[in-house]
Parts: sequence; C-alpha cells; structure tokens
Amino acid sequence: MENIRKANKNKPVFDYVNPQTLKWVKEHSENMTNLMAYYKCAIMEVETKLNVLNEEFSLQHDRNPISTIKTRLKSIISITDKLELNDLSLTAENIEQYINDVAGIRVICSFTDDVYIIANALLSQDDITLIRKKDYIAHPKENGYRSLHLLINVPIFLANEKKIMKVEVQLRTIAMDVWASLEHQLRYKKNVHFSDEMAEELKKCADLSAELDYRMDKLRRQVID
Ligand code: GTP
Ligand code: MG
Repeated sequence: MENIRKANKNKPVFDYVNPQTLKWVKEHSENMTNLMAYYKCAIMEVETKLNVLNEEFSLQHDRNPISTIKTRLKSIISITDKLELNDLSLTAENIEQYINDVAGIRVICSFTDDVYIIANALLSQDDITLIRKKDYIAHPKENGYRSLHLLINVPIFLANEKKIMKVEVQLRTIAMDVWASLEHQLRYKKNVHFSDEMAEELKKCADLSAELDYRMDKLRRQVID
C-alpha cells in the first residue's frame, strides 16, 4: 500500500486508504474492471483517430503534425481520492458523471498550428461530441501553463451495446510539454517550499517557451505549409 501512496503523492494527502473505500472497490471489483476496460477502449478509439489524422496529414504535407501521443488511465486510488475530495460518494455513476479525466490522452504536436489542426479535425468527426474546451494557449494560466484541453464523448461499440465514454485530450507543442513536465516535477517535489521567486522564474521560463513556439511557428510558415 505504501508504494501506491508514494506513486500518488501529488494528490491530496490521505495517508491511508479509507477502509470503506477498499471494501467498496473489493465488492465492486467486477463492475470497476468493466468500467476501466471501457475507458481503456475509449482511449484506444481516440488514439486511433489521432494516428489516422497524423498519417493523412503526413501523406499530404510530408511531415507529422503529431510528435508523440501519451495515454493514461487514472488509477482507482486517484479516482477514489478525487471523489472523496469533492465529497462525492463512491459509485460507478459518480465516477462516470464527475471524474472527467479517467481516460487521458496527451497529444504532443510539432507546431502551435498543428495543435488546432488536429483538435479541429478530431472535433469535426461525427461520432465525437465536445463537452468542454479550455484553451490555455490563447489564455495561458497565471503560472504560464499552456495547452489546449478538450473534454469529449466518444462511443465504444461492444458486442451488444454502444457506450458513450468521456475522454480528456490535452494537446500541446513540444515546447509546452517540456515546460509542463518540468514544472510538474518541481511543483510536486516533496519537502520543497515553492517560493514566489521560484514561481516567477517558472513563469519567465513559460514565457521563453512561448517565445520559442512563436519563432518556430514563424519559421515554419516561411518553409513549409
Ligand atoms: P482537475 O483535473 O480536477 O484539476 O480539473 P480540470 O480538468 O478542470 O482542470 P484543468 O482543465 O486545468 O486540467 C487539469 C490537468 O491539466 C492536470 O491534470 C494537468 O495534467 C494539466 N495542468 C493544468 N494546469 C497545469 C499546470 O499548471 N501545470 C502542469 N504541469 N499541468 C497542468
Ligand atoms: Mg482534469
């Protein structure tokens, strides 16, 4: 259990797993396994769509708009932590309704324009429904964080039913990803006080990364379409 908590140390601190939570997970293990499998399938669906878009674009333009795709399924522990934090009881319905990022996909694009090309192409597909869009590129967070977040519904087709699943897609450039990854590591470093000066310095690094994207985008427009 200690290892699980360590891996999850960036989450609000519960230094034990609520015994009721454990009991619930055990009692509902079959349902939970199914639910998590559905989310996994939804990730596979969206990942394939992204790969198809990347392939098509590379045929037409001889370059890849997508550099890397990372996927992750939220752990049961993180899911239950998030429910508890929001005073929600542990039910499969609450997970489906309130936990938006059980299925997560991060799309690392080459250039800023690619982020919007891929996002718009994905959203224009008739089986994808946009639930919520947060454009932290047009409107970066105060700390400098930039990315385009899409919360979408995607259908998965099972033997006897169609299920609509939520997937959180984060799209960002390589430069945005470098900053976000390093900032995340620094912010969640245990026992390190995060001073105002450090926050300011990180914001300056975010501005540098935005400048890098801007200049690379300009170069790209001069050289390739
Ligand atoms: P939560 O997922 O509950 O936080 O709420 P939300 O989905 O409404 O928040 P948001 O749209 O801001 O996205 C949250 C996710 O974006 C996080 O799980 C991170 O992956 C990423 N993110 C948001 N803000 C930051 C940030 O300041 N730094 C880094 N490194 N990642 C961030
Ligand atoms: Mg989230």
